[in-house]
Amino acid sequence: MDNRQSDDPAALAALRWLVEAGADEAIGEIPVDRTAPAPAAPRPAPAELAEPAARAPAPPSEAPRRPRAPAKLTAASESQADAQRLAAAANSVEDLRQTLEDFDGCPLKATATNLCLFDGNPEARIMIIGEAPGAQEDRQGKPFVGPAGQLLDRMLTAIGLDRSRVYITNLLFWRPPGNRNPTPAEIAVCLPFLERQIELLDPKLLLLTGGMSAKTLLNRSEGILRLRGRWDDYRHPRLDDPIPALPTLHPAYLLRQPAQKREAWKDLLSFSQAMERVGLAEAANGAK
Ligand code: URA
Repeated sequence: MDNRQSDDPAALAALRWLVEAGADEAIGEIPVDRTAPAPAAPRPAPAELAEPAARAPAPPSEAPRRPRAPAKLTAASESQADAQRLAAAANSVEDLRQTLEDFDGCPLKATATNLCLFDGNPEARIMIIGEAPGAQEDRQGKPFVGPAGQLLDRMLTAIGLDRSRVYITNLLFWRPPGNRNPTPAEIAVCLPFLERQIELLDPKLLLLTGGMSAKTLLNRSEGILRLRGRWDDYRHPRLDDPIPALPTLHPAYLLRQPAQKREAWKDLLSFSQAMERVGLAEAANGAK
């Protein structure tokens, strides 16, 4: 490969534009020009002019023709089945960490630097579920350690919590390249591992930060601005009781839209009242 640096202003401007748009990772060795016209498909020769040898052999008439599932779909559903089986076999969050370190069914792992599973206390009864690791989380292998995480810490402090009293995880355990939105297949393959964490912790309350985790776990289609502040029940396939869950605005969104902190504060007050109702407020203040 040619490693010379380019000083072509147009190339540099295009690169700057890509970085600003979030493409901050190279995921292939060879650049692909997606603006190039597709190569023209070879025209089929008229049947009477084609060389006999060039004609496709007719399938044997007795061979049954089975519709084939597209290869990608098959691989994705196999990975999901593996994810279900492996997650169910893990008996602690540290088991899950080892399982995920060995699991290759989520394509995000190939571009991420580190697995980013959880931070906080695996015995906590309050669980906070974000969306996906960003650049700093990817580097450190822990959720919510970048600027959004620092704001989350301040939000927790405001209601008497800190990381020793909560368990923090994400919908996805590897960073999507350039922080792009994850695909439904990437969410689906990570979900069994998130569900297993919820099952192992059996939390009394869930705080869902951001639309993606709220919509996925609560099976809703509305955006976060509609869902936030409204308590809902999260129903786990293997837990008897529903878990009260509060969707709220994502701290990364609050950093971009500080005026919305007022709404987030209302949500936090509501969460703190729920902590009192379920007997977690004293523990949060260290009295238990
Ligand atoms: N945003 C998230 O949703 N999770 C993180 O871990 C970091 C940023």
